[in-house]
Parts: sequence; structure tokens; C-alpha cells
Amino acid sequence: MQVVSPKSRHLLVLGTGGTIAGEAGSRSDNVGYKAAQRSVDDLLAGLPLPAGCAVRCEQVLQLDSKDMDADGWQRLLWRLAEAIDDPEVQGIVVTHGTDTLEETAYLLHALLPDTKPVVLTCAMRPATALMSDGPQNLVDALAVAADPAAAGVCVVCAGVIHDPVSVQKVHTYRPDAFDSGDSGPMGHVREGCPVWGRTQAGAAARFSPAVLKAVLACPAAQWPWVVVLLSHGGVCGTMLEAVLAQGGGLAGVVLAGTGNGTLNRALDASLHSAAQRGVRIWRSSRCVHGPVLGHGQGWPIAAGLNPVKARLSLMLTLLAERAGLAGDLAR
Ligand code: SIN
Repeated sequence: MQVVSPKSRHLLVLGTGGTIAGEAGSRSDNVGYKAAQRSVDDLLAGLPLPAGCAVRCEQVLQLDSKDMDADGWQRLLWRLAEAIDDPEVQGIVVTHGTDTLEETAYLLHALLPDTKPVVLTCAMRPATALMSDGPQNLVDALAVAADPAAAGVCVVCAGVIHDPVSVQKVHTYRPDAFDSGDSGPMGHVREGCPVWGRTQAGAAARFSPAVLKAVLACPAAQWPWVVVLLSHGGVCGTMLEAVLAQGGGLAGVVLAGTGNGTLNRALDASLHSAAQRGVRIWRSSRCVHGPVLGHGQGWPIAAGLNPVKARLSLMLTLLAERAGLAGDLAR
């Protein structure tokens, strides 16, 4: 779809589904809806566009983001890598469900060059809602993608610009469902104008262009299998044994530990046994805020990443090592 022409700045909007494209049976229903019903073309229809911009859009995926998987991520990565290389495109917006948005944001940040803005946006209320938040979020995301100061991946929701390393969904219902924790937001969008506190996201666990190539070349079904295990009172020490016993080639475990990445004794014993069988173990924390501190003690720490992002980082690390890129991990 070509919304406006001829203009000087060309933006591309990629639709992937989510609540922003969701529909409910009644306008007052903000929870009993079906995600991923409207096309990205429909989401853009009638919206005010940033001055001097031409916008086109494509539907890359159409899913509830709780169902995001390696195949979906790979398709999105392919299209974004092409768009970043395309001299006709100056900025990209991705509409996405909120539930796994922080995972997608981190994965894209870890792999893609930061030469052009890639702005993820979303909604907590469906497109049919009386006070749908999707249209304003999309307009704000377009403003950020059109801003010459923007570069690399960020997330725009409820007027706040978050960085892809720190951003986390922290609320089940509120339209401002995301938080950047100790780092604070990168900026805000006020009346169509991005106001930046900082334009650079953290460098945590970024990967080289060679790793992006390896990730795109590897069939999604063969991406290393990495799971997250939650440590809690009374946790079952044999859970990991059960996963290993079923076969399937478990390659890595990220521990969502208690507090500063600590873990229950029974779980620790099963991790040692898995590690002896070649499973890579990393440690993170189930706390919403704060990094795990104390390098050199216990299992390696996933620097500054929450468990679901650490899972992706470990998966990329293992995939890179398998492709002979072990010396080429972070950039
Ligand atoms: C989804 O993540 O696709 C559904 C929930 C949402 O977007 O808020």
C-alpha cells in the first residue's frame, strides 16, 4: 500500500498481528478479543502521517505473539535485513503483539545493523475498543522512525521510547504496560515529536553480521533448543531430567533464579548433571528489575538480560559456535 507520495522520507510498516490488530465482539470489551484480525493496511488507514514521509506497508506475519516462534522470527529477520539494505527505505515500523514484544525487540537488536531505525509498536486494547491505544502508538512509532536522530531497534508504547535490552512487559492490562527498569526510557513522544534522553541502546550481547547470516541460513527447526527454568520454593529437581530423557537435543538452559540469580539446591544438582552431558547453563533472575551481580560465582551470568532475552542470547551463541563463529560473537 502506498499511502502518500511524492515525499522525501520513505517509511516501511511491517505487520505481524497482535492486539493492535485485534477485534472484539463489543466496543467495551478490552480483554475478550481475538488478536491478529486486521491487516496492517487497515491499521494505517486514515492515520495522520509524519510530514514529508511516504509510507508503505506489508503483512509479514499475522499472529498472536504468544505463538511467536523461530520460524516467525526468521521471516521477520529476513524482511528487515532486506529493508535495512534498501536505499529507498529510511525507517521501519513493526506492529507486534505485546506478549513477546520484548523478545523480538532484543533478537532484532542482537542481530541487525543499527544503521536505520526499526521501531516496534503494539497496543494493549484491540482495534475495536472505545479507547483503542493502537492508532496513537502507531502514529508515535512513525514519528520515531521518521526522526533522523533515531537508529537501531527501539520500542514505542504509550508515548514512551524504550530500548530493546531493558524493555519488559510489566503489566497485564494497563496501556502503559512496558518499563525500562533501572536504565529508564530512551525518550518520549510528545505531540508527534520524539524527545530523546539517549539514542543508543545498551550493547548487551550483540552479534556480528556473520552470525546474522548463519541465523538466516539455518532452518528455523534447527535453531538450538534452549529452555528457561524457573527456580522457586519446592521446585522439582527432576524436571530437567525429564526434559533430557525425552530426547530432542536440549542444547541450553537459562535459569530464572531467585533474587540475585540464586537457585534451589535440587535444581542446582540437576543442572550439574545436565552440564556434564553437554548442556550449556546460563543464569538470570526472575526479579523484574536489576542485573545479576557477582561474576565468577556459579553458572555464567547473562549480562543484564532477563530470562527470556538470555534464552535468545544463549541460542544465538550456540548457533554461532555451531557455525564456527565462536570468536565472533559480540560486537
Ligand atoms: C499478542 O501479544 O499478540 C496479544 C496480546 C497483545 O498484543 O497485547
